[in-house]
Amino acid sequence: KATAIVKELEEKCGTPIAKLRQVADAMTVEMHAGLASEGGSKLKMIISYVDNLPNGNEKGLFYALDLGGTNFRVLRVQLGGKDRGLINQEFTEVAIPENLMVGTTEGLFDFIASELTKFVGKEGPEYQLPPGRQRELGFTFSFPVQQTSINSGSLIKWTKGFSIDDTVGQDVVAELSKAIEKQGLDMRVSALVNDTVGTLAGGRYNNNDVVAAVILGTGTNAAYVERAQAIPKWHGLLPKSGDMVINMEWGNFRSAHLPLTEYDHSLDTESLNPGDQIFEKIISGMYLGEIVRRALYRIAEEASIFDETVPPKLKVPFILRTPDMSAMHHDTSYDLKVVRDILKNVFEISNTSLKVRKLIVELCNIVATRGARLAAAGILGVLKKLGRDVHRDGEKQKTVVALDGGLFEHYTEYSKCMENTLRELLGEDVGASIVIEHSNDGSGIGAALIAASHSQYLGVDE
Ligand code: BG6
Ligand code: GLC
Repeated sequence: KATAIVKELEEKCGTPIAKLRQVADAMTVEMHAGLASEGGSKLKMIISYVDNLPNGNEKGLFYALDLGGTNFRVLRVQLGGKDRGLINQEFTEVAIPENLMVGTTEGLFDFIASELTKFVGKEGPEYQLPPGRQRELGFTFSFPVQQTSINSGSLIKWTKGFSIDDTVGQDVVAELSKAIEKQGLDMRVSALVNDTVGTLAGGRYNNNDVVAAVILGTGTNAAYVERAQAIPKWHGLLPKSGDMVINMEWGNFRSAHLPLTEYDHSLDTESLNPGDQIFEKIISGMYLGEIVRRALYRIAEEASIFDETVPPKLKVPFILRTPDMSAMHHDTSYDLKVVRDILKNVFEISNTSLKVRKLIVELCNIVATRGARLAAAGILGVLKKLGRDVHRDGEKQKTVVALDGGLFEHYTEYSKCMENTLRELLGEDVGASIVIEHSNDGSGIGAALIAASHSQYLGVDE
């Protein structure tokens, strides 16, 4: 019976190449629709107001806040312009207390502003600014925001584990500025960016061929450089560069071609945001472990693989975190020792047979493979929109996609599978000119770089 349930899951999660191509095509179609009009698609295709990516001339001392991944980060970045590049950077990292993720706007922003104030309070005299000069900050806020300028925008909705009703519709820069002021800190928020946009900027600073960025972490999303003329819903001036960075919010993508199972449906229904972020819920780190837990629960109930009674911890939502799933998936010991230990520590299940442990590794493999292959299909969709999925006119242009996020960084089987699938989809020839580059924590530096190019002191220091 247990094997039959696993087999059924494997079939339902199947992602043959033909299906992945359909998903990629659907992604491209939705991208066009989202660019055509507000509300034209599930894909928000948000105009970031970033029309100039870093070129190396950025200079000065800038701060960045990075909110929305596993950890909250405060950074200080010193930029030395063309000659000296990135002189130094320093950061602190804290987890956001869970109660603040579902509390009030004020509670959350007061917390991040006080961490920022503590960070600034600890710095040495070399970072003191001349009297009257304001510190400047880039704010990486990794949620869907309707931007109204480079440094303003209202929250469309929360995603991932956050849910604070009174923030929706508010300008998050105004909220942050209020909280900073309350702390008595004199700092201006010069740029508001999504983590994908920050990663794109940080990636471009290091490599001119970067044209897109993808986050595979707690959540998932992508940003890329679009021609402003190809954005019908943009009614502003045509930027000098001719370009505009688009934050796709692809986590909210959905399509009839996505292979969904009963576990995905129940996970979605019981989530903080039912009906939303369907692509994210089958691909990203917040959810993969939970899908495995749901499948395992059904097996325990129907095939009694552990005992007559289902171990109570197996019923607890989100108890199996993706890092533990990854550890089980990567267990190379002959008796699957890691799986045994995690079953014991997480679910309080002891005395499992090797056969059961093997079955659990199989579950992890099925769920991770589906996510990784669909992520690759998403990237193919973006490359298609950029016209980089084929070589045109015999030109072999190099294309770099900057990748970041804990899932990509730590879940090796997942990232390997994603990259192999992308190569499989592109074919050897084109595949060879598309490079996936890990942009480690690039989004914080990226936000500081964008703050630098929107500094109120631009031109003053020359
Ligand atoms: C970090 C970036 O490295 O990755 C963040 O600096 C981003 O901006 C994060 O949100 C995503 O990964 P995770 O796994 O922390 O959600
Ligand atoms: C979620 C957020 C998105 C973010 C992504 C990765 O999908 O909505 O803004 O970029 O997670 O952190």
